[in-house]
This record gives sequence, C-alpha cells and structure tokens, in this order.
Amino acid sequence: MKDFDNRGNRAFSRIDPAGLLEPELWPTSTGMAASSEIAGPVLKIVGKQTLSGHVPIGGSKNSALALMAGSLLAPAACRIHNVPRLLDIERMGQILATLGVKVSHVGNTLDLDASSLRTCQAPYELVSQLRASFLIIGPLVARLGVARVPLPGGCAIGSRPVDLHVRGLQALGATVQIEHGVVHAYARKLVGTRIYLDYPSVGATETLMMAATLAEGETVIENAAQEPEVADLARFCQAMGARIRGVGTNTVVVVGVPRLHGTEYTVIPDRIEASTYLIAGAITRSELTVGPVIPDHLRAVIAKLRDMGLRVEEEGPNRLRIAPAQLSSGWICQATDIQTLPYPGFPTDVQAPIMALAALSEGSCTIEETVFENRMHHIPELNRMGADIRLKNRVAIVRGVPSLSGAPVVATDLRAGAALVLAGLAAEGCSTIYGLHYIDRGYEAIDEKLRNVGAKVYRCNNPAEDPTMA
Ligand code: UD1
Repeated sequence: MKDFDNRGNRAFSRIDPAGLLEPELWPTSTGMAASSEIAGPVLKIVGKQTLSGHVPIGGSKNSALALMAGSLLAPAACRIHNVPRLLDIERMGQILATLGVKVSHVGNTLDLDASSLRTCQAPYELVSQLRASFLIIGPLVARLGVARVPLPGGCAIGSRPVDLHVRGLQALGATVQIEHGVVHAYARKLVGTRIYLDYPSVGATETLMMAATLAEGETVIENAAQEPEVADLARFCQAMGARIRGVGTNTVVVVGVPRLHGTEYTVIPDRIEASTYLIAGAITRSELTVGPVIPDHLRAVIAKLRDMGLRVEEEGPNRLRIAPAQLSSGWICQATDIQTLPYPGFPTDVQAPIMALAALSEGSCTIEETVFENRMHHIPELNRMGADIRLKNRVAIVRGVPSLSGAPVVATDLRAGAALVLAGLAAEGCSTIYGLHYIDRGYEAIDEKLRNVGAKVYRCNNPAEDPTMA
C-alpha cells in the first residue's frame, strides 16, 4: 500500500483509518489534485459558527439551462426571469450567441432572441465545458432540420453517454451520424412516434420533448424523467404554444405544432441549492429558513433530514425552516441509509452534500449512488477532514465521527465542492476549498449567502491570504 499521496501527505493512514481500502478502490481523485483543480480562487472557511437567518434561493440552474436551449425553438424573443448568475448560465449564453441568438442577462432576467440563427453548429471549446449544452441538438434539428453538436464527452462524475438522446431523435425520423466526435443530426421533417426510454434520463427527456414540439403528429415519451426541471421546461414550451400533456409524469405526450412563439416565463426555485442550505443549517446545529422553494420538490430530502432527527417545517407556502436535532446523545443527527434515484427519489445532486452531514451522524449508514457511476470524489477529501467513509463500488459506508477538522481540500465537481463547504462549516478550525470554479458553476454567491447568515466564509484569490485579518 502506498504511504504518500502526490502532495506528500501521509495519505492512507488518515484517509482510511481502518486500513480496509485498497488504493485501487479509491475514486481516481484521491489526493491527486490536478493542477487545474487547485488553480484559481479558493474558499476559506472558519468552521463551527452558529448560523441564523434566511438564505434566499435562486432560480434552478438546471431548469434555466434547459429553457435556454428551448428558446431556440421559436423565431422570436423570450424573456426568462429568475435566472441565476452562474458560470454555467454564462457559458450556455455564449453557445447560444455563437448560433446567432441575441443574449442579454441583466440582473436575473435573461432575454433571448433566436429570430435569426446563423449556424447549426456549436463550437467544441464551449460544448466541452458544459454537458447541458448538448440539449441544443433537439431544438436545432426540429427548427432548422439540421444540427451539429460535438459529443460532450465524459466528466468527473461518469462517462455520461448520449445514446438515449440519439436513439430518440432517430425514432423521430432524424438521421444521426457521429463523425470525428461531432453528432450530426438532420431530418427533412420529424414525425411523432412512441419512444420508450431505457432509463428516465433528464437530458434525453428534455431533448426529445423539445424536438417533438415541432414534429408532425403525436410523440409519446414513456419512462420519461419526472424531475421538476423537466416539467418546468414543458411549461415553458407550453407558454410558447407547444401542446404537451402528462407534464411531470413518466408519460409525456407531445402533439407537434408548425411553429412556436416567444414568451415570458419565470424559472422555478433551485431545489438543490435549497437542500444544500438546509444541510448547512443542520450541520452547524443552527436554525435557518430557506426560500423561495416549492416544498413538494424537496420531499425526499426533507424526509431524510427528518429521519436523521432534524426538524424541518414548512413556513408558509414557499419557505422551509430547519432546526437542530434534539438528541440526548449530543450528536448532530442520527445515521440513516440513503439511495439516490430518479425523481421523486432522493436526488443524486444532494448525495455529496448529505454525505458531509452523515459523516457527523450518530451510528453508521450506507449512501448508495445509483444514477451516476463515479460520483464519490468527495469521499477522500471528507476523509482528509477526519470523516470515516469507505467506498465499495457505488456504496459509501459512513461511520459517524463526533467532529471534523479543517483542512485544505479539493473540489473535483460542483456537488462534491458543496459537500466540502458544508464540512468546512462544521469543522474545527480553518478549511481551504480549492476548485472554487466548480462551486461557482451551481451556487450563486455562496460565500455571500453564507456570510449573511453568520458563517465565516471568504473568497480569496490567493490561497496564502488570511481573510480574517482583512
Ligand atoms: C441532469 C442534471 C444533473 C442531475 C441529473 C440527474 C442538468 C443540466 N443536469 O443531468 O444535475 O444530476 O440530471 O438528476 O439538468 N444516460 C445514459 N444515456 C443517455 C443519457 C443519460 O446512459 O443518453 C445515463 C447517464 O450517464 C447517467 C443517467 O443516465 O448515468 C442519468 O443521466 P441524466 O438523467 O441524463 O442526467 P443529465 O441530464 O446529464
């Protein structure tokens, strides 16, 4: 067994206190911070502060990205409200701009005008940075009859193929070829059909639903994803004149129309951001409110937080309050088993954040990731902070520890980054979170939002800075 990681730390004795894990079982990021991941600004956190107050929740990133792709369907202007200011949104805007869309993002209002598209080809340099950009293939082929979109490739959380998007487009009558890493799809016209998805993929449901809005006749998507963001896209398309039934169910029926028009629409609140801040309250033994939210979208997360002994209450129609558990043992919460599943199951995007909380729970639990094959990169980093988590295939075995200690750690993807921020809030001492650019992809002003409720969280351009002295 290796004794040192590539930062020269005596790695495995700390990370794997029980010595049970062979090195090859570690997620590939174990202590192997690529230089790109540790470059750029960092978050510095002084842990163990009690938080209080209200955290404002922005519009859903994933919903907004899908709506942006959807705006390509109409030769008209669309105005979308409640769009978060995030790196991913900016990148998607750049991709749309290269296609000829007029894009303007002022405050949280995004204006998109796809009246005159000048190309059907998306640039690899941008698409490769944002998997969601592949969604443009559906609207482009539906509206222009042709689309050329580079394969998005793998990413930190798994290989993430696009076979379901491709097979569905073929079923709608498109010819799809993959050459030199680019997916070419073309069709004189798309014709409605019955499509059964082998897996309720969010992206594939969105691609096919958008393509079907302008197809001839009726398309039935069976085993469709039921995520609220898919339903939000369906409602946006309806607002543009699309005929869609079964919104939010696993059977979506789209009756094609010849043309869609512009619209004004407001994005739903981000249930993942809301879940993350609820966990921030839990992990710091604090009382916090978060909102606006649609509580129904957070049922699985609320249920698990309650299983862990935390008090989560609805305060009015769009606000949630979290209050500390009252365990006689003095632990932050109790362990509970979790399995990620497509909606309405427990969201894979909250798997890493809740693992930070589980790391501090009384007892042991398992957290199983069933949606993505490689989404456990946060484990070695949490273990660097003193957690006791082992990984066996896609199951994390978490043995609760009474405390974590601040450490330099590396975010390797967005939600892994969120988990490390949460751990840093609970840890004794200071933590430095590298890879802040990942967190900025999905959390608008995370440092400010946390500071406003009493956390000591600082964005620093230079890891050597001491923000507490400023
Ligand atoms: C979306 C979300 C992401 C979330 C995920 C699951 C956006 C921008 N991202 O990602 O935050 O974690 O849903 O809720 O909305 N798959 C295939 N073939 C395909 C498509 C998907 O095998 O053609 C597999 C994927 O590799 C993965 C699983 O299906 O294992 C789920 O992926 P999918 O639901 O498509 O997620 P995304 O749309 O990529």
